[in-house]
Amino acid sequence: MPARVLVGTQWGDEGKGKIIDILSEEASAIVRYQGGANAGHTVVVGGKTLILHLIPCGILRPGKLCYIGNGVVVDPEALFHEIAALEKENVQVEGRLFVSLSAHVILPYHRLVERVMERLLGNRRIGTAGRGIGPAYRDKAGRMGVRVCDLFDRRVLREKVAVLAEQARMLIERLSEEGGLASESSSRVPGAPESGPEGEDLRVDEPSDIVESYAALGERIRPMAVDVSLELNRALGEGKHVLFEGAQGTLLDVDFGTYPYVSSSNATAGGACTGTGVGPTMMDEVLGVAKAYTTRVGNGPFPTELPPEASAALREAGAEYGATTGRPRRCGWFDAVIVRHSVRINGVSGLFITKLDVLNNVEELNICTGYSYEGEHLSDFPASLEAMFRVEPSYEILPGWQCSVNEARKKEDLPREALKYVHRIGELVGARIKGISVGSAREEMILLD
Ligand code: GDP
Ligand code: IMO
Ligand code: MG
Repeated sequence: MPARVLVGTQWGDEGKGKIIDILSEEASAIVRYQGGANAGHTVVVGGKTLILHLIPCGILRPGKLCYIGNGVVVDPEALFHEIAALEKENVQVEGRLFVSLSAHVILPYHRLVERVMERLLGNRRIGTAGRGIGPAYRDKAGRMGVRVCDLFDRRVLREKVAVLAEQARMLIERLSEEGGLASESSSRVPGAPESGPEGEDLRVDEPSDIVESYAALGERIRPMAVDVSLELNRALGEGKHVLFEGAQGTLLDVDFGTYPYVSSSNATAGGACTGTGVGPTMMDEVLGVAKAYTTRVGNGPFPTELPPEASAALREAGAEYGATTGRPRRCGWFDAVIVRHSVRINGVSGLFITKLDVLNNVEELNICTGYSYEGEHLSDFPASLEAMFRVEPSYEILPGWQCSVNEARKKEDLPREALKYVHRIGELVGARIKGISVGSAREEMILLD
């Protein structure tokens, strides 16, 4: 398949990194189309664990070209930090990594504004990754963002930075005058924390300093800066394979997720087109990744979340700690309602199930097949956040398997119960299962035809 998109079908961290690494083998180019360094994609190869944030996982496959599309928000400091970390691991980056001239740039103001906004939201805060993602996308949509090409033009950069600095300054001034709005948000939603972060340094950087440092970072980016749309369309025209690496997941998509507890980009398959400049008619296949259970990091509704003790047990079994922030992930049963929603939104034709091994030795497995809300049965994901906070999951119970699936390499190696569990997931979400991952390493995989 020449143009293939891979998306997360839950709340992120489904194991996209591992699947992208496997699919990269067939691709000539791998491209990130949205999000930024809020992502943490883990690849385990040759006993070594590497976590990619902004750079496509394809960088770990020698000779593959990697692109950061226009839909990504690029933090140049994070980018160079990641390049240095990869080079330390003897991964060749130079000549293989390209960044869109039209991608928007994250400045320190964005990280600062994000902290202030989270504080303003108080107990309704999102629980972001703290990478400046939301404010950078807000400035993009507000038509005042700095793009990669702007870093090469001091006059433009100076004008834009002045506006962004002023915006940050006004927001912080207002916040200090009012002593924050945290205490005013009285209607605490279930699942939200009790209070906001306190005691932060809220200094606004001098615009002239930012112009200098970002113009210098721009000079370092210049050799990598290209028209990604032109390059990818050329590659596809030559019959080369391009893999579109989604970050976050469908339930974190700004349009189709649990808004406002989402990220600020289109993580869904449509984002692959708008985030790279490759048209929908060029796309051949959309693949999805789902964990065999559900996790979420940050705040917001999560109908199948387990009570604290059981959630902690699953967290320990699955090593569920954020790859970017180290935060403990909330854990729960597999939710077929949300994955079915994702299959539809993305047009998923094939689904990878990951972390099946984490469920070894669980006596009985619950799969959520629908919700009940105010006496009604819902088989689809409700748009209303309040409804999503209050739905009650309806479960189907399947027997577990009391053995390890880690050594399985073909479906016949799996215990009957494990295979049944995966097949039932496929049936409920309406997707063909393409692969089952039974461990974090590249080879711990069962590919189905
Ligand atoms: P991503 O953001 O979707 O790329 O996922 P993350 O890398 O944030 O989190 C997935 C975690 O699960 C990583 O630590 C992976 O190494 C690990 N992982 C992926 N697939 C499997 C699997 O089948 N079994 C186990 N035990 N771990 C897995
Ligand atoms: P990968 O690509 C899991 C979550 C944050 C927060 C919300 C908004 O590794 O799957 P943001 O910083 O984007 O404004 O935060 O989205 N979030 C993720 N959760 N995996 C991710 O990426 C995430 N990226 C953002 O925790 O709830
Ligand atoms: Mg992750």
